[in-house]
Order: sequence, then structure tokens, then C-alpha cells
Amino acid sequence: MRFLLPVLCALGTTTLHAVPPFEPNYDESLANPLPIPDVLVAEDGSRVTDRETWERKRRPELLSLFSSEVYGQTPSRTVPVTYSAMGEDKEVFGGKGLMRQIEMRMGEGERQRSAQILLYLPATAKTQPAPVFVLLNFWGNHSVSADPDIVLNPGWFRSNKDKHIVNNRATEASRGVSASRYTVEAILDRGYALATTYYGDFSPDRRDGFADGVHALFNEDDAEERAGDAWGNIGAWAWGLSRMADYLTELPGIDSDRIAVLGHSRLGKTALWAGAQDERFALVISNNSGEGGASLAKRNFGETVGRLNETVPRWFCPNYDKYSKNEGALPMDQHALVALMTPRPVYIASATEDLWADPLGEFLAAKLAEPVYALYGKKGLGVDEQPAPDTPVGASVGYHLRKGKHDLSAYDWQRFMDFADRQGAR
Ligand code: GCU
Repeated sequence: MRFLLPVLCALGTTTLHAVPPFEPNYDESLANPLPIPDVLVAEDGSRVTDRETWERKRRPELLSLFSSEVYGQTPSRTVPVTYSAMGEDKEVFGGKGLMRQIEMRMGEGERQRSAQILLYLPATAKTQPAPVFVLLNFWGNHSVSADPDIVLNPGWFRSNKDKHIVNNRATEASRGVSASRYTVEAILDRGYALATTYYGDFSPDRRDGFADGVHALFNEDDAEERAGDAWGNIGAWAWGLSRMADYLTELPGIDSDRIAVLGHSRLGKTALWAGAQDERFALVISNNSGEGGASLAKRNFGETVGRLNETVPRWFCPNYDKYSKNEGALPMDQHALVALMTPRPVYIASATEDLWADPLGEFLAAKLAEPVYALYGKKGLGVDEQPAPDTPVGASVGYHLRKGKHDLSAYDWQRFMDFADRQGAR
């Protein structure tokens, strides 16, 4: 009471309502209260039956809905970005590949921001341009490998003891802490390149982070009131992935027709949004992306739209909150985001213990995107039911349900490479 009293006085006549803690539903019999809109029915109610109408009418409608209602508008204005190699390339894994670090400078003058790309190229890239996986990382490039030559990111990090973050900064002990998520040697062994950047370089993942990220390049830092369709963190992270693609498409040694974008969890949501907007990503992979990513929002299982808007509204645009506890009002669902990749291959990965992300909702989003692939004569998953654990399926739409927890594992990477191998060149 001693502490509560001043608070109550300060609140004056305001009535206090206790907010009940969020209780996720994990009962499948209660999970499907709402119908899922058909991705091929346009806003005017007409049915889309051919590619031309999909590309000219329905696809733009959906892209615009995700911009205005979910992730926010990505600025169309460009800012200058320069890329410079930081030091010499270094041979790694006994000559299996090269490691290069590239500094990206974005914008000009006081508002300039910088980010660093960590690039691994397989040895074969000297003679044959390599396909590449582009992804953002959570804990800095130095967390991808314990290699002491990787620059220790000096930026802001979320608190995390296990990752050896002290006072929101990475420490020497942070080197290699996430290595199991990147399996660099195994990727090089299969002839793929890997390009990764710390997501916080583009937009720090904190409530007041917009002034320190790329939002500031577009004069939107710290606006008191964000517009309903203002882009959030996911929009900025996706923008960063496209700027990485700008560099990679011009790079000898990289096959610009085989640039895959991949992401785990919030960065899986980001990979989907980047892939939807930027068709240079020839393959799009979502790993355990869950709510606001691959899983259907209108299903009630695990995390919900309301819960996202309560805990991380900054990831999305303010309009997204209109659908909190009101998913029935959403004019589309997340399978439409998956469908925006058509005709490019897309892969959705879930994990058995990742119920928060709703593995079945992720599978169903992939399934319900298939009719758009069919317009291109492309085969989707090839199954109607969610497959058993550790049984990958799919032709142009791939899916697996890995045994285990929310994570990006060596198993996931092997399946992604199997799928990418099967796609070949565009
Ligand atoms: C939380 C959040 C998820 C998100 C995940 C992550 O669990 O609720 O939506 O995907 O964090 O990015 O790690």
C-alpha cells in the first residue's frame, strides 16, 4: 500500500482494471472459430482464375493490405548505400571457403547508419557462381562463429546472460554463441554461400529504437504519433535484407538468380515480408515464424494478434492493433503472404514443441497458398495433411515439422538445402 498509494493518487479518478494474464489456447477443438478467406477471391468478390489477373489485380491488392494493415509501408524513396570490404578475404575450414566482412553505409551525413555483412563463399565460387542464403542474425555476426577475426558488434543488444551480453553490449565471450544455428561449414560443403547481418544494425529491437535504426534515414525517427500504416521493425529489417541483396546481386561469385532469403522466428516473419516485396529473392524460407509470420491469424492457437500487439507493437504498423481480439475483421490471412511468393518456391518449417508458433497453422497457411501455385502449373506440398515429424514434403511449396523445440538447427538447414538443390536455377 505504501507504494500503491501515490500511484492511486496520481491516477485521480481513473478506475484501475486488472489486465488478465494472456492464456494461449492449445486445444485444437477450439482453434478454428473463423473462416479463412480464399486467397483467389478479389476485393470486389470476383474469382481469380488466371495468372494475368493474379499479377495485375489480386497480388497488388494483397501486397497493399499487408503494407497498410500488418507491417507498414516500406518507403519507396531510396537512400545511398555504399559497400566496402573490411580487410582481406580469409580462407576458412581448410580452404573450403572464404570469409569476407563488408561494411554497409546507409544514408548520408549525420543520419548515416552502418551495418556489417558477414559473407562466406564456398571455394567453388571461384569458377561457378554460388547460390546464397541471406539471413539476419539475433546476436551479432560474431555469434555465428568463434573466429576471432569477425568484428565484435559494438551496437546495442537485448539483455541476455547466456549470450554474454553485459550492459546491452556484446563481449568477447559472445563469440560463437549461436554457431549451432548457422552450420557454416556444412553450408559451404554443399556449395552454398551464406550472408548474414545483425538485425539490430538495421533497427534495434526495443521500444524507443526507431531513432537509432534505418527509420531515421527517412526522417521518421521518434515521431510522437506513428501513422496507422507506419513501418515497424519488421519493415526495417526486411528493408535491410533487400539492401544486402543489392550487394549480392552485383557480386561475382554469387549466382544472382539463386538468392534465397531465410529467417527464424521474428526474423522468419521478416524473411516472408522481404520475400513478398522483393522478387529478387528466388526462394523464401520461414523457420518457426509463427504469429505474424506463416501461421494463420484467424486460428486461435498459441500466440495471437492481440498478444503481439500487447508485447511488441513496434514490430508491426499501428493499424495491426485493429485486429487484436478481432481477427475476424482481417480481410486476408497469412496464407496470402505465403502466396505472394508465387511462382517462386517457398518453404515453411515448424517444430513439434513450438506450439506457441502454431505448427498446424503454419502448415495450413502453406496448404492454402497452393491454389496460386496451381495457376502457374506448379505443384505445392503434394499432401493434404500435416506430415509426420521429420518428414519433409513439397515441390514448389515445401514444409517440414522438425522434432524438437523452437530453434534453427542443422536438420533444418539440410532440408532447406535439399529443397534449394531441387529448385535449380530460375
Ligand atoms: C516471441 C514472440 C514470437 C517471436 C519470437 C522470436 O516468442 O512471441 O512472435 O517469433 O519471440 O522472434 O523469438
